[in-house]
Amino acid sequence: MKTIYLIGFMGCGKTTIGESLSESTGKTLVDIDEYIVEKYQSSIPDIFANKGEETFRAYESEALQTETHGGIISTGGGIVQREENREFLKNNGIVVYLSLPFHTIVERLKKDSNRPLWDTNNENQMEKLYKSRLWMYETCADITINVDQKSVEEITEEITTLL
Ligand code: S3P
Repeated sequence: MKTIYLIGFMGCGKTTIGESLSESTGKTLVDIDEYIVEKYQSSIPDIFANKGEETFRAYESEALQTETHGGIISTGGGIVQREENREFLKNNGIVVYLSLPFHTIVERLKKDSNRPLWDTNNENQMEKLYKSRLWMYETCADITINVDQKSVEEITEEITTLL
């Protein structure tokens, strides 16, 4: 059975949709961020603060390549930054890109303090990051779902119908 990878920018709902998809398909869910937190016994902000982003990216790549179990994998928004990860995603499963306009992400992450790369006070910088990643998500995606203004149930149904 092919692994299903959920990709998309921070705040697009990868974890929530992963949980819902896991329930409706009976497939196991692995969340890469949670895997890293458990394995290294450290929160994501602490890993960024103490070891730096490059170390986090290395943990992320290792997690991606280890967790190939034929279930559902919810990834972190920056997983597509490394070319090796983009190649891996393209070659190892069905990649579902949850796409969301930038203004909706801003709304959703207004009060977020758990994402080291998200800076509520620097919207221009955040939009630059968002725009710089769009092509990366697009080149990896087998299926793109516009998740704006849709309920978790609607998105889950849309994905299961397309799979
Ligand atoms: C990141 C996204 C986060 C997490 C880390 C870095 C990113 O995951 O992996 O804070 O670079 O976009 P979510 O996309 O689940 O927020």
